[in-house]
Amino acid sequence: MSLCELRNVKKIYPMGDLEVQALRGVDLTIEKGEFTVIAGPSGSGKSTVLNLIGCLDRPTSGEVLLEDRPVAKMGDTELGALRAARIGFIFQSFNLIPVLTAFENVELALRLAGHHTDNKARVEKALRDVGLGEHFHRRPAQLSGGQQQRVAIARALVKSPALVIADEPTANLDSHNGKAILQLMREMNERDGVTFLFSTHDAMVMEQAKRVVRLVDGAIVDDTRRAPVYAGGAS
Ligand SMILES: Nc1ncnc2c1ncn2[C@@H]1O[C@H](COP(=O)(O)OP(=O)(O)O)[C@@H](O)[C@H]1O
Ligand SMILES: [Mg+2]
Repeated sequence: MSLCELRNVKKIYPMGDLEVQALRGVDLTIEKGEFTVIAGPSGSGKSTVLNLIGCLDRPTSGEVLLEDRPVAKMGDTELGALRAARIGFIFQSFNLIPVLTAFENVELALRLAGHHTDNKARVEKALRDVGLGEHFHRRPAQLSGGQQQRVAIARALVKSPALVIADEPTANLDSHNGKAILQLMREMNERDGVTFLFSTHDAMVMEQAKRVVRLVDGAIVDDTRRAPVYAGGAS
């Protein structure tokens, strides 16, 4: 069983009288345990691919399958529940809720995934796992960018999702914090088998990937599996 699959997916965005062909027939299969990067220039369709796989949007044509089930056949309620339980998102701009503490931001994701009791230990473990043992009760504005992205990773991982999708997760971080964040995700992939799918145009992120899928103008032009250059620690 593949984790997710795009079959001849096309996405057209209407733009006034015009249309933007964001994806022109993309075939892509992600298997369990992968650490895959979608690389490509700005506007090549990376976010569109991630949004379709994450079921934040639906394709114009073609099929999206999650764990072998066609997403088009699911209703909004079923799809929302599946998304909340099985997929974790990490965004370039962190997207934390400003009035909630780190703890509350992470706990909210658990609640949305249907967990309403005994959340405290799980949330605290998720925050400790990303190295935020002391900052449970700070709000995003009281945390650095690197710390905010760690909260976002804890939020994505607390529900033990099948797939973590990260759209340019290091783009708003300095290189030291970007490396540390990537290292953390690599450890979670190696140790816990969490499947990650990233987009980036950061060469450092690409070096760490086990598979690089290159997009140009809404089409996949290269798909290579390889041994990653393992940094072995943030320096
Ligand atoms: N909501 C939208 N409405 C109109 N055009 C869009 C929308 N989202 C993306 N696009 C266009 O689709 C193409 C692919 O965008 P995107 O997937 O965001 O690329 P990337 O993430 O690689 O920068 C671009 O030409 C972009 O301008
Ligand atoms: Mg993008």
